[in-house]
Amino acid sequence: MSDILIVYYSRTGKTRMVAEKLASMLAADIEEIREAKERAGRMGWVVGVKDSLLNKPAEITSEHSVEPRKLVIIGMPVWASAPPPAVRAFLGRYDLAGKTACAFCTHDGGGGKGLFAKTVELVPGGLASTLSLKKPRPDDPVLDEQLRRWSDEILAQVQEG
Ligand SMILES: Cc1cc2nc3c(=O)[nH]c(=O)nc-3n(C[C@H](O)[C@H](O)[C@H](O)COP(=O)(O)O)c2cc1C
Repeated sequence: MSDILIVYYSRTGKTRMVAEKLASMLAADIEEIREAKERAGRMGWVVGVKDSLLNKPAEITSEHSVEPRKLVIIGMPVWASAPPPAVRAFLGRYDLAGKTACAFCTHDGGGGKGLFAKTVELVPGGLASTLSLKKPRPDDPVLDEQLRRWSDEILAQVQEG
């Protein structure tokens, strides 16, 4: 089992693609946060914006092996400048106290500032490092380079801590 766990939520696969690239660069374990609510299609998008704005609680159906890890990386899409309800639910259920926590997000141009400001309130020790990625594409060498640099930064943090 790796000291590093990547947990991610992804509705349409972009965050999953990034999480998988990072997992292979960091030799990390990877787990998907799943929720009970169906969010496919246009209605899923509309309801997603509403749920995120209203801070609606989500029911997550996945189990996560957070306990033995030194470092937990949380990956998520930006939803109305905030973390999706499933990620809030994950952070409500799993205690990251005493671990290094980092987060990345994918978005369509709005940026990750609002999301990280809200996420940091839900993580006891705060976020050691964050990365925001606009419309990531799997075949983009610039994305691979960004992820490689971020991976190196994160590994240095774990070795220090
Ligand atoms: C409910 C909802 C709200 C969104 N809100 C934002 C937003 O505020 N800013 C933004 O740049 N992109 C927003 N997006 C776009 C997603 O963050 C973006 O497409 C992301 O990369 C999708 O990741 P995924 O494929 O892992 O689900 C939103 C998407 C959804 C479904």
